[in-house]
Amino acid sequence: MSIVTVATQPYAGQKPGTSGLRKKVGIFQQPNYLENFVQAIFHAIGPAAGATLVLGGDGRYHNRHAVQTILRMAAAHGFGHVLLGRGGLLSTPAASCLIRKYGAFGGIILSASHNPGGPDGDFGIKYNTGNGGPAPEALTDTIYRYTQGIDHYRISDHAPIDIDAIGDTEIDGMRVQVIDPVEDYAALMSELFDFDAIRALFRSGFRMCFDAMHAVSGPYAQAIFEGHLGAPAGSVIHAVPLEDFGGGHPDPNPVNAAELIARMDAADAPDFGAASDGDADRNLILGQGFDVSPSDSLAVLAAQAHLVPGYRAGLRGVARSMPTSCAVDRVAKALGLPCYETPTGWKFFGNLLDAGMVSLCGEESYGTSSSHMREKDGVWAVLFWLNLLAVSGKSVKQLVHEHWARFGRNYYSRHDYEGIDSAAAQSLMAALRERCASLAGQKLGDYTVAFADDFRYEDPVDQSVSEQQGVRIVMADGARIVLRLSGTGTEGATLRLYLERFEADPAQHFLPTQQALAGLIAIAEGLAGIRIHTGRLHPTVIT
Ligand code: G1P
Ligand code: ZN
Repeated sequence: MSIVTVATQPYAGQKPGTSGLRKKVGIFQQPNYLENFVQAIFHAIGPAAGATLVLGGDGRYHNRHAVQTILRMAAAHGFGHVLLGRGGLLSTPAASCLIRKYGAFGGIILSASHNPGGPDGDFGIKYNTGNGGPAPEALTDTIYRYTQGIDHYRISDHAPIDIDAIGDTEIDGMRVQVIDPVEDYAALMSELFDFDAIRALFRSGFRMCFDAMHAVSGPYAQAIFEGHLGAPAGSVIHAVPLEDFGGGHPDPNPVNAAELIARMDAADAPDFGAASDGDADRNLILGQGFDVSPSDSLAVLAAQAHLVPGYRAGLRGVARSMPTSCAVDRVAKALGLPCYETPTGWKFFGNLLDAGMVSLCGEESYGTSSSHMREKDGVWAVLFWLNLLAVSGKSVKQLVHEHWARFGRNYYSRHDYEGIDSAAAQSLMAALRERCASLAGQKLGDYTVAFADDFRYEDPVDQSVSEQQGVRIVMADGARIVLRLSGTGTEGATLRLYLERFEADPAQHFLPTQQALAGLIAIAEGLAGIRIHTGRLHPTVIT
């Protein structure tokens, strides 16, 4: 077998977004489309002679095919060793864990996260660097630049290899080691959490339901919850990863995880419910008849972290994305911890984590994690909650209610308008930006605007600046309205409206969320003219 050079031509628009390159499967199936992008990655990262690459994906349609192509290109690029999850499977957090544990040069993760899969669904690819985290913007910009000038790529002409059996194969001098995708990840989890306490919890009759949504968290959840921790068989539902996620939308919010929600609302509901997304980096946490808002979850974990072995020594600091509610800020203030506000997207936490400035971070979009890796981590968040439930003896609802009583409640909601016309979305944002300039001091409904701007972030570690990260209208009492356009959608544009207000009075902690936020929702519509610009009367999804 030998390395061959193939002539090619650039495709327009191979620009990686917040989480890599995501496109419809059909686009990825065009001749040389994947190859061009992989060549651009390899070109951008420079020589990798003898180095180790981690490779795997969430198992969606096209995953197995892409794995074979990338293996042959990695061999042509001089990699010495590839750690490949069996069946081409690796959750995003497991890939991050492996890169760090084995000192890999980097990793390629095949996923479109929470986007639907199958032949008509989405596919995606992203590169993570040696710290285990997503490539920084400078690198993704370089990758993009290379895709636009590409005229050839290099690939081995080796035949496809068996990726379903644990063991070693060789492709043109490169060792391909097919590994159990779960083992190293599970070992890391057992170091962070009190597995004995959780085992005792399950032995006492505690019941959980974890919905893997036919995505890659299934094998992890079964091995860890049912295997290591003794949860009864069947505690994990939809556990087998399918190429089309069983036709579902592997995004763990109360709308998509309807079956799980129904189980948690039933009379004989399990004590604890949870779900994860396509690539297992997100988490949804539920109690009996109760769902925990991701922003509250982050705040509860921060407040209770001292109860968990991996965080017993205390947290260095916390971070949240700008649109995430300020609930965690209140915890940080009470505990005397630094709290950082970053733009949306996990990569912005990387520098803070690498510099040891924060131990815990999270986003409102069901993403939470810590310094144990450089990705968000769904199963980790579920284990964190299980650990808290085990050592406190309290229910999910009790823990959250007690949290509100202690810190106050940040009512919070996100309204998504999916698949709207891109030009309409742009003009809405442009008009809003213009309005921001004159909003300070204005009275709107029951609120007075303290300031309004388009969020600009200066990274405290490398001073890099990210502009236009979302329009925020902040009221004098701390209530906030935030609007931004999604960077991960693949059809038209998605407008996200985030709403938040703080309630200190415990007697007022139990209103329906949308009712509690009604005043802000009306103000947002008045300011942004969502109906006028998009023609939509209602959001597609409310979380
Ligand atoms: C969405 C979430 C964001 C998350 C990203 C990747 O991005 O809002 O918090 O980091 O997915 O999972 P968006 O579509 O809003 O750009
Ligand atoms: Zn994901």
